[in-house]
Amino acid sequence: MEIRERYDHDVLVIGAGGAGLRAAIAAQEEGLSVGLVCKSLLGKAHTVMAEGGIAAALGVVRDEDNWRVHFRDTMRGGKGLNDYRMAQIHATEAPDRVREMEGWGALFDRTDDGRMNQRPFGGHTYARLAHVGDRTGLELIRTLQDHAVHEGADVYMECTIVKLFAVDGRVAGALGYWRPTGEFVLFRARSIVLATGGIGKAWKVTSNSWEYSGDGMAMAYDLGAELLGLEFVQFHPTGMVWPPSVRGTLVTEGVRGEGGILTNSEGERFMFRYVPEMFQGDYAETEDEADRWVGGDRVNNRRPPELLTRDVVAKAITAEVEAGRGSPHGGAFLDIAAKRSPEYIKKKLPSMYHQFKELAEVDITAQAMEVGPTTHYVMGGIKVHPETAETAVPGLYAAGEVAAGLHGGNRLGGNSLSDLVVFGKRAGEAAAKSATAAELAEISESDLETAITESLAPFQRQGGHNPFEVQEQLQRVMQDKVGIARTAEGLQEAIEDVRGLRGSLKACSVSGDRAYNPGWNTWLDLRSLLLVSEAVAISALGREETRGAHTRIDFPETDPEQQKNNTLVTEEDGRMVARKDPIPVVPEDLQTLIKEGV
Ligand code: FUM
Repeated sequence: MEIRERYDHDVLVIGAGGAGLRAAIAAQEEGLSVGLVCKSLLGKAHTVMAEGGIAAALGVVRDEDNWRVHFRDTMRGGKGLNDYRMAQIHATEAPDRVREMEGWGALFDRTDDGRMNQRPFGGHTYARLAHVGDRTGLELIRTLQDHAVHEGADVYMECTIVKLFAVDGRVAGALGYWRPTGEFVLFRARSIVLATGGIGKAWKVTSNSWEYSGDGMAMAYDLGAELLGLEFVQFHPTGMVWPPSVRGTLVTEGVRGEGGILTNSEGERFMFRYVPEMFQGDYAETEDEADRWVGGDRVNNRRPPELLTRDVVAKAITAEVEAGRGSPHGGAFLDIAAKRSPEYIKKKLPSMYHQFKELAEVDITAQAMEVGPTTHYVMGGIKVHPETAETAVPGLYAAGEVAAGLHGGNRLGGNSLSDLVVFGKRAGEAAAKSATAAELAEISESDLETAITESLAPFQRQGGHNPFEVQEQLQRVMQDKVGIARTAEGLQEAIEDVRGLRGSLKACSVSGDRAYNPGWNTWLDLRSLLLVSEAVAISALGREETRGAHTRIDFPETDPEQQKNNTLVTEEDGRMVARKDPIPVVPEDLQTLIKEGV
């Protein structure tokens, strides 16, 4: 047996973005031994891509704000598919989590009179996002990692987990390998928190980096967990579209939050034409009205239509491009220079200023940016208990993007950072509690040997497919057939294509040794990418309506009947199947709140 390193912990946290770090802190506070595994280096996580802020009803900028308004916005933004209890917990607890991070050293931007500032974002009734310029995720990761390391977490960097094990039905450990050496390592734990993020790398145009290959979802599914709502993939409206080498790189929604406008090739501010019925009355109807709001006039609180929810804005940009009114490289123009001074832009959006200057030779204090949708986030993921974040596998918890429920059919910007810390904390606490009542279990050597043999299989083969080709084909299939606008025909083809690629993966070979071997690393990631991509495509095929981030060209209407169920993917008799999962009934008082407001 070639496992030279073995570590035991009470709680193992897999993934070191905001959710993983917050879970680790919570478990350490219970006095337990915590291992924190990062696929990459500590501090490098998709959390940093939540640039514009963290949503919490602190009521600083608008004292009318409170958890009830935040809850309502989240449920409306999610088009009724959210787990209401998660949305309620999230809205209620987010302010404390933000204040707590300030206490741990996060340096949030201030108002002129020294209070924590909040900026407007899409779908939020009031300015609600506490922020640090346009580097909020980065500052929160810095704060949380300082705190977690200070509290004593054992950090394992550049370690990819490839398999989870259960003993007598309870999660018991995880097998990983060190990227620098390719050597295997075993972690045993009394409970495990998955915080591995999403699956953005399945698409060609994405804001996600290489780590986001759906590992947590795939490994949990293999162990018997259920996958929920995977048809809902968020295409953030504003990614860079030019030059090609940086296509997909995020352009924060903070640009629109600070007053940036979207125009088409005819110079028209087109978003006024795309306000959905459910949001009419909440948004300005003329440029003059929108400009007055940006200038500080909040009498009717009718926000500019650029601050509609992301699903709406992304589809509007796509529609403009399809109508022949796109920008030269197939997007729309995003202009902040038209509304704010160069000093203001450099102060509030320093990263965007440098990003465009260095990557596209565009000075955003004087010129418009070219932007278009980019795969950013998946609302679906592992089904969890709303209070504890426990999955269907005893002892296995999931928090952050890897988990489903909070965001329903579309996530509001800024709600992911608050999700990470609210449910990261809850997952860490619940994992700690259950760990104290569980024993470390023996994982059978033959199970370990099988997992290692499967992981090394491509080294045993000659010729055949190359993992990079499989990855490229997958990204093309998902981009073209499971992208922003879908049809039954395209989805059926995608399912067949992905299944075919799963076959190709079995025939792939890799060469060289195991140290920093990108071909082998990609092959291992593809096992998860392909499994979750199939789950996304079969979920999308089953939802025959258009709702939130899921657009069906062949079913363009939203069907009220389909608001009753989520899509659940499970394994039955060795096959992946999608079935309907009734949405928990929202209590009457909360239903009234959602419909009528506070
Ligand atoms: O646009 C952004 O700054 C992203 C924020 C988020 O995804 O929450």
